Amino acid sequence: MTGLVIANWKMHGSTASVMDFIDQWNRLPALADVRTVVCPPHPYLASIGDRMAGMALGGQNCAEQTEGAFTGEVSAAMLVALGCRYAIVGHSERRSLYGESDAVVAAKAASAAVAGMTAVVCVGESLDERQREEHEAVVCGQLSASLALAEAEDIVVAYEPVWAIGTGHTATPAQADSMHAVIRTQLLQQFGDSGKNIPIIYGGSVKPGNAAELFQCDHIDGALVGGASLDANSFWQIASVAGTGRT
Ligand code: 13P
Repeated sequence: MTGLVIANWKMHGSTASVMDFIDQWNRLPALADVRTVVCPPHPYLASIGDRMAGMALGGQNCAEQTEGAFTGEVSAAMLVALGCRYAIVGHSERRSLYGESDAVVAAKAASAAVAGMTAVVCVGESLDERQREEHEAVVCGQLSASLALAEAEDIVVAYEPVWAIGTGHTATPAQADSMHAVIRTQLLQQFGDSGKNIPIIYGGSVKPGNAAELFQCDHIDGALVGGASLDANSFWQIASVAGTGRT
């Protein structure tokens, strides 16, 4: 499977930093065997468009509804109109800070698919849940409910243990790989044979220094990168090792 590396800029950046990123990215060598995606804050989507060589565009969120009186929301069709091919849904920050349930995440993933995008559906356990050894059950529960309305060809799963996000505590390659194997089994149960083609990417303190060892794991198909994706060079370094050695 071709590596997939997605930049999630969260609520960072400015018009100037976006222009700098585009400029720097386009000076870096083209990458082979990897798909790259940038998910900037929505106001920057239009100015990025297709200006970054080889980079697809994605939204960080989308509304579950198609249109109407939903102040502050952005529909999947609006993202598509700006060139987005991906939408992150159910990020742990959306789940914990904005109360998004699995049912909401499922509706958002469905709405992204109807508009023609791939939904990057995020799952992951908290530190408490891992310490209680409930992580596998929690993640399988999230998958079962968040993907309830999805078709296999419309989704990417991002495993992001909450305790590894923005903390500098990456899951070890063994921890990540073993959870990805559990996720693959769950996807095969939910989607049958087509579950084997759903990319499963890892997120949580991925950096140039730890990306290669994560990508060497059998069950890790790419990464969802937060902090380290804000710098074109470091994102390029991460993406450059995602293509190597993958089948
Ligand atoms: P960090 O890479 O900053 O830990 O963020 C991970 C993340 O939440 C990406 O969606």
